[in-house]
Amino acid sequence: MNTLIKNGTLVTASETFKADVLVEGEKITRIGLNLTADSALQVDATNKLILPGGVDPHVHLDLPMFDTVSSDDHYTGHKAAAFGGTTTAMDFVVLEDEGFDHSVNLWMKKAEKSAIDYSFHMNLTRFNDKIAAEIPSLMKMGIQTLKVFTAYNGRLRLDDGGIFKALQIAKDNGMLVMAHCENGDVIDTLVQQALANGHTDPIWHAWTRPGWGAVDATLRVAGMAADADAPVYIVHMNMGGEVDMLKYARERGVKVMGETCPQYLFFTEDDLQKEDGAKWICSPPMRTDADNIRLWQGLHDGILQTIGTDHCPFFFDGTQPIVYEGKEIAIAGKELGKYNFTKIPNGLPGIQDRMPILWTYGVQTGNISANQFVAYTSTNPAKIFGLYPRKGALVPGADADIVIWDPQKKLKYGVAHSHQRTDYNLFEGWDIMGYPEKVFLRGKLIVDGEQWLGKSGDGQFLKRGEGEVL
Ligand code: URP
Ligand code: ZN
Ligand code: ZN
Repeated sequence: MNTLIKNGTLVTASETFKADVLVEGEKITRIGLNLTADSALQVDATNKLILPGGVDPHVHLDLPMFDTVSSDDHYTGHKAAAFGGTTTAMDFVVLEDEGFDHSVNLWMKKAEKSAIDYSFHMNLTRFNDKIAAEIPSLMKMGIQTLKVFTAYNGRLRLDDGGIFKALQIAKDNGMLVMAHCENGDVIDTLVQQALANGHTDPIWHAWTRPGWGAVDATLRVAGMAADADAPVYIVHMNMGGEVDMLKYARERGVKVMGETCPQYLFFTEDDLQKEDGAKWICSPPMRTDADNIRLWQGLHDGILQTIGTDHCPFFFDGTQPIVYEGKEIAIAGKELGKYNFTKIPNGLPGIQDRMPILWTYGVQTGNISANQFVAYTSTNPAKIFGLYPRKGALVPGADADIVIWDPQKKLKYGVAHSHQRTDYNLFEGWDIMGYPEKVFLRGKLIVDGEQWLGKSGDGQFLKRGEGEVL
C-alpha cells in the first residue's frame, strides 16, 4: 500500500517546512511540494505536523525485578509507545550466567510479540576475561551498546577497572558504553542505617540515594571515558550537577553524551512524600525543583543529547486487576514494599507519555523548540545508536515511521488515555495540547486516532551498527 500525505508541515531536528510525503511500501520515497501519486491512498495533513516516529532509547519490558516483573511486555509496551508517537524502542537484555548468546536468545523470544521496531542493549553486569573476549560478538548480533552500573553493589555493579576495560573494548569495536551513575557504596551504607533506624517509608528511597553520588559517578565515568578515549552515554540524568559535569567534560573534548527522562523534568522527591509516593519510586530517584530547572536548561542549551523514558512500569496495587484488551490482569507491583521501601520495585510507566507531555510542557512552554523536541526524542537517539537515517529521519530512503501530529488536540491525560499496562499514570489529570493523530510503522498505519491497527509480531529487530558521537 502506498500513501501520499498531503499539505502537512514537516518538523525535523533542524528544519520546519511545508511538504507532501510519498510512502511506497515501507519507505519514504519522495518529499516535496505538490506531489501526486495516482495509486496512493491520500491522507490530508492540513494544519498538522509530520514528525519522524519517536525513538525511545531506554525501556525495560518484561523485566524481572524483586519478586515480580515489569508489567508491560513487548506487545503492551510497544502498543502504548505507538499511541504516544514512538515507533522504535530499545530495551536491555539481562546477562544470564550462560553468557551473551543465551541471554540475547531469551530476549529475542520475549520480543517475538513486538508491535513496533526494537533493538537491544546488553547489561554488562559481570566482567572477566571470558566475557571481555566475547563482547565483540555482540556487535555481530547487532547489539552495539553495553550498560554498566556504578551502583547496585553485589548485583549489577562493575568496579572501575571493569568499567574502564569495557570502555577500551567498546572503543576498539565501534561500540558504546552506557552508564548508570550513582554511588553504590554510599547507597548501601545509608540503606542499612535507614533500616536499622526503622525508616521504611518511600521517601527513604530518595534519601538513601543522594544526588552527589550521581554527580560524582558522572564525572568519574566521564573521566574514565577520557582516559580510554572512548565515547560514553550517561543514562537517566537526574541532577543539575550531572548537567554541569557533562558540560565540563564536553568542553574539554570528552566524548560524553547525556540522556534525561520526563520524570526528572517534572517531579521531585516531594512526590515520594505523598500517600501514594511509591508510584514515583525509580532509580535514580526524583530530585529537586532546582535540578528540574537545570535539566531543562541543559536541554535548551544542547548540553544533553536525548530524552528517553526508562519505562519500567509496575502496578501501584497489583492485588487489584485492571482490564487490558478486554481481559482482567493483575501483576504484583509496588505493594510488595508496603512496609519496606527497599522492596518496592524500582521503575515507572512513561513510554506513551513521553512525546505528548514533552510537547505540551516543553515545546509549548518554550523550554525547547519543536526541532529540539524531534532531535531529543527521535533523531539523536537514532544517530547515537546506529539507526540513522533509517530511523529518526524524514528523508527519501528512510523507513516510513511517521507521526501525523495534531498540535491543536486537547485532552485531559491519564490512565483513561493510556495503553501502558498498569493501574496509574504519573500525569493523571494533566492538560495536554498536541497528540498523535496517525502513526505509521514502516508505511503501515498502526494508530488512527483512538483505533489500534497494529498487532503483535509487527515489530522487527533492528541490527545496529556503529553510532555517531554527538
Ligand atoms: O528504576 C528504574 N529505573 N528501573 C530500571 C533499571 C534502571 O536502572 O534503569
Ligand atoms: Zn539505570
Ligand atoms: Zn533503565
